[in-house]
Amino acid sequence: MKILILGMDGYIGWSLALRQLRLGNEVCGVDNFSRRKAVEEMGSWSAVPILPMQKRLEILKKEHGGKVSFHEGDLVDQKFTDDVIKTFKPDTIVHLAEQPSAPYSMIDQNHAVYTQSNNVVGTLNVLYSQKNHVPRAHLIKLGTMGEYGYGNDIDITEGFMEIEFRGKKTVIPYPRMAGSWYHWSKVHDSNNIMFACKLWNLTSTDIMQGIVYGTRIREMEDEPKMTRFDFDEVFGTVINRYCSQAVIGHPLTVYGQGGQTRGFLALEDSIQCITILINNPPDPGEYRVVNQFDEQYRVSELADRVKRIGDKKGLGVEIKRVENPRLEKEEHYYKADHEHLKKLGFKPTRHIDDEINIMLDDLAVFKERIQAKKDSIIKIVRWNDGLKQSMASPAVSYKT
Ligand SMILES: NC(=O)c1ccc[n+]([C@@H]2O[C@H](COP(=O)([O-])OP(=O)(O)OC[C@H]3O[C@@H](n4cnc5c(N)ncnc54)[C@H](O)[C@@H]3O)[C@@H](O)[C@H]2O)c1
Repeated sequence: MKILILGMDGYIGWSLALRQLRLGNEVCGVDNFSRRKAVEEMGSWSAVPILPMQKRLEILKKEHGGKVSFHEGDLVDQKFTDDVIKTFKPDTIVHLAEQPSAPYSMIDQNHAVYTQSNNVVGTLNVLYSQKNHVPRAHLIKLGTMGEYGYGNDIDITEGFMEIEFRGKKTVIPYPRMAGSWYHWSKVHDSNNIMFACKLWNLTSTDIMQGIVYGTRIREMEDEPKMTRFDFDEVFGTVINRYCSQAVIGHPLTVYGQGGQTRGFLALEDSIQCITILINNPPDPGEYRVVNQFDEQYRVSELADRVKRIGDKKGLGVEIKRVENPRLEKEEHYYKADHEHLKKLGFKPTRHIDDEINIMLDDLAVFKERIQAKKDSIIKIVRWNDGLKQSMASPAVSYKT
């Protein structure tokens, strides 16, 4: 199968490329390296050192020869996106290439505009090129569980829900109540993809993904093959950040009461789920939504787990409650369905405690790199007030 991975230089994109190549598929990657630049803009770097793409490709080509190719470019550039899709003619497009950080989008107006332009325009360009050149391809798009929001008083379904209103029944999209400019960009994407499927009979799976954690998947047996791993406040996701803090003896920073509940899954299982979806496309013309996570946890519970496992390793982990910079409920009802992937064969392979154990060992090797950028662990992007030391413009500019 020919698989186009948009965002191949990223945390999930690189991991997915390794897996798909091992499975014998042909992989073409795209990236504009905006993630590398934005993390640098935040005064940080990946805890795990990552090679430049040129070197990454050399490693892949040694093992897989002509089965891998790569194009540097920006999806917001219509011609670039169109040329790549027209030339490669993928069977499956996995679209991961977006600005993925909620705090980054909340820094100031420039960062909000950049996030929404990058994400929404890039996706629209992909949809047009899919329609023009590969209308039978399967588009797998990475959205987030955050599209639904977290303050809902009812269970969360997978994409759609049945309602009864004034005596009539119908099925409608589950209400989206996102909590950042980034999360809203994903909602806008979802609406555009749903509309494109209806308009042009395109086929797509929109993944509402939980928060991913972990340093490695099984293909990453040596350091040059490892994926990036961020720990700064803006790009480091919560478990990854707590593990990095534990390793350098920084207190684990729990926002507010810590009752915020989210769905999580290990990187290995995220890659397993995307692979299952690649191999099991929906019906032609269908817009399918899947909720992709393994278990739900409160963030305070995650900090307790990292402390318990870290203490066994003699790390003497401290937990500190800090003022919550986000606008979110700190205690709330949360129960989300996640049946579609299980029906397709998804079986979680990693228990969270085992994964935390592996992460703490992996990160201990890169302790000095985390220590060197420890100021990036607390930047404090306030939802209602942005970042105090506001920057003039994002590291990456957007084209229209
Ligand atoms: N990591 C998570 O916990 C998580 C959770 C839910 C959803 N997601 C979504 O999954 C996707 C991948 O996440 P990730 O953690 O691997 O992020 P990432 O930032 O590591 O990867 C995205 C890659 O896309 C590239 N990119 C961004 N905009 C681009 C553009 N306009 N043109 C070309 N390349 C571009 C970036 O340089 C980066 O390498 C994102 O869409 C993200 O929103 C991630």
